[in-house]
Amino acid sequence: MEPILQVSHLSKTQILQDISLQLASGEMLGIMGPSGSGKSTLLYNIAGLDQPSQGEVWLGDVDVARLSEDQKASLRLHDMGFVFQQMNMMANLNLLDNITAPAKWANSQKSGKRKAELENKAKALMKKLSISGLENRSITEVSGGQLQRACICRSLINDPKILFADEPTGALNQRAAKEVMIELSKLHQEGTSILLVTHDSKVASQCDRILYLLDGQIQGELKLKKMMDPKEREEQVNAWLRSMGW
Ligand SMILES: Nc1ncnc2c1ncn2[C@@H]1O[C@H](COP(=O)(O)OP(=O)(O)OP(=O)(O)O)[C@@H](O)[C@H]1O
Ligand SMILES: [Mg+2]
Repeated sequence: MEPILQVSHLSKTQILQDISLQLASGEMLGIMGPSGSGKSTLLYNIAGLDQPSQGEVWLGDVDVARLSEDQKASLRLHDMGFVFQQMNMMANLNLLDNITAPAKWANSQKSGKRKAELENKAKALMKKLSISGLENRSITEVSGGQLQRACICRSLINDPKILFADEPTGALNQRAAKEVMIELSKLHQEGTSILLVTHDSKVASQCDRILYLLDGQIQGELKLKKMMDPKEREEQVNAWLRSMGW
């Protein structure tokens, strides 16, 4: 299958060296590695939030690194979804308005959907992520897991081609992390392409494939078999991480 994302020889001075990777359509690819190894920097460079010093990043038939800042912003808005550890939700808006915000912004640029249509879409996403009923709560009136699931709704409101997640469960307790991972796995099973940074082997074990980053270079790759039992997958990830010097 054609890869949806193709990164070739990407470098970022003093942080990343000659990174090449591919993400197949519908694949969930994990990036692991020690703190400071360059995982977040890699994600930012792929998503056009930072400019690589060398290399190419193709999303479909677009070379992200060659676009102007405005074109990159538009690509992020329309074709990419982001779920980060620092959630960047707006404190003065309720959950529903936070979720629809990127779509309202996108529609102000193109002729787009009407408010009611957007809100229905946001509500359908909230239902899917099991947070129906919280539409009018402020972001301080929901739990960490609920807020992170709202972030996932927001990241999906413009039907992105690819979802970038940087430690999406990092700020959550175990139970909330589990809720969020169940939802991300569902999205993956429905065919969403996901690039996920995590330090959690349980989370990583839900990926199709995991890359190990060390000192800005890819040091190893683990492919996980689809049909394997979750416990077995996690054990395989842990054994692989030990072999990588984790
Ligand atoms: N804007 C920047 N300018 C200069 N150096 C940076 C910048 N951002 C990150 N770094 C450095 O690049 C290296 C990689 O950082 P990065 O945040 O990508 O690591 P990480 O693997 O995501 O770590 P963590 O697991 O702690 O999130 C670190 O040494 C960091 O200090
Ligand atoms: Mg990071």
